[in-house]
Amino acid sequence: MPVARRFDLLWQPLRNGLHRNNKAWHDYAHRGSLSYPWLVKFGTRCEPHQNWSILKTMTNTDNSKDSHNAPASLIEERRDYTVNTLRRDELSSSPITQFTHWLQDARDKKIIDATAMMLSTSDSTGQPHSRVVLLKKFDDDGFTWYTYQESDKARQIQDNPKASILFYWCALERQVRIEGTVEKLDPRDADEYFYSRPEGSRFSAAASIQSSPVENREVLEQRVRDLHEQHPDGNVPRPAVWGGYRLRPQRLEFWQGRADRLHDRFVFQRSSTNTDWLIQRISP
Ligand SMILES: Cc1cc2nc3c(=O)[nH]c(=O)nc-3n(C[C@H](O)[C@H](O)[C@H](O)COP(=O)(O)O)c2cc1C
Repeated sequence: MPVARRFDLLWQPLRNGLHRNNKAWHDYAHRGSLSYPWLVKFGTRCEPHQNWSILKTMTNTDNSKDSHNAPASLIEERRDYTVNTLRRDELSSSPITQFTHWLQDARDKKIIDATAMMLSTSDSTGQPHSRVVLLKKFDDDGFTWYTYQESDKARQIQDNPKASILFYWCALERQVRIEGTVEKLDPRDADEYFYSRPEGSRFSAAASIQSSPVENREVLEQRVRDLHEQHPDGNVPRPAVWGGYRLRPQRLEFWQGRADRLHDRFVFQRSSTNTDWLIQRISP
């Protein structure tokens, strides 16, 4: 690659006055400069990876006819996973302890939204639906999040309490898949968490009937203003249907990315009658 082109790639985001959270910077850091770890570290919280092939792919792509600077082919979008390993002898006998270690690693790494998890539920026709929620508690009884107990997800959980949650921590090259049965918590249990939230979040929660159609944004904002008028002290009450759910796990999988896609995978499984966990390595 010509030196001038390399220089151009490096300075493009600075020249454009992009700041560290700018999407273009993020795209740039991931698409073009993964071979400059310090740059990636500066521009994004995702771990750096030495991957010249991405840079080569990007610069080999002839974008001259495309004024939008189209991304390199998705087929070439790949990286190797080399940050960690997961051996059987370092795996805890309790999946909850194992999860505790991995979540702590993610928080120590300052991974953004380390507690964000993909929650998948399915409706009565079998159609799955996925969305992100935040993990707020976990222990041997399960994994808890808070939401509207009359939202789409709530209706799906009522139709089919089997669900899965998924964590992906990019910088650690780790994925945790958790499957089990969801139970609805008493909304009164949510008081402590609800009243610990920032005032703005509490008003928004009270103003929004989650998953229901709304004519436009102004309608939502007006509802928030009305609530502020009704509760000038800021103490808007928790909506009666805002509460928690807990997924009781029956199967957990810990996935550690490895070089050449020969990943480490361990599954913890238990039957509904057995409280002991069976641990098995499975193929990548
Ligand atoms: C990072 C992130 C965190 C979120 N956390 C929550 C949450 O804790 N609870 C929640 O109800 N929705 C949360 N959401 C919004 C949900 O993804 C979703 O839009 C909402 O729960 C409505 O889903 P539903 O219509 O399928 O019920 C979050 C979204 C993102 C992207």
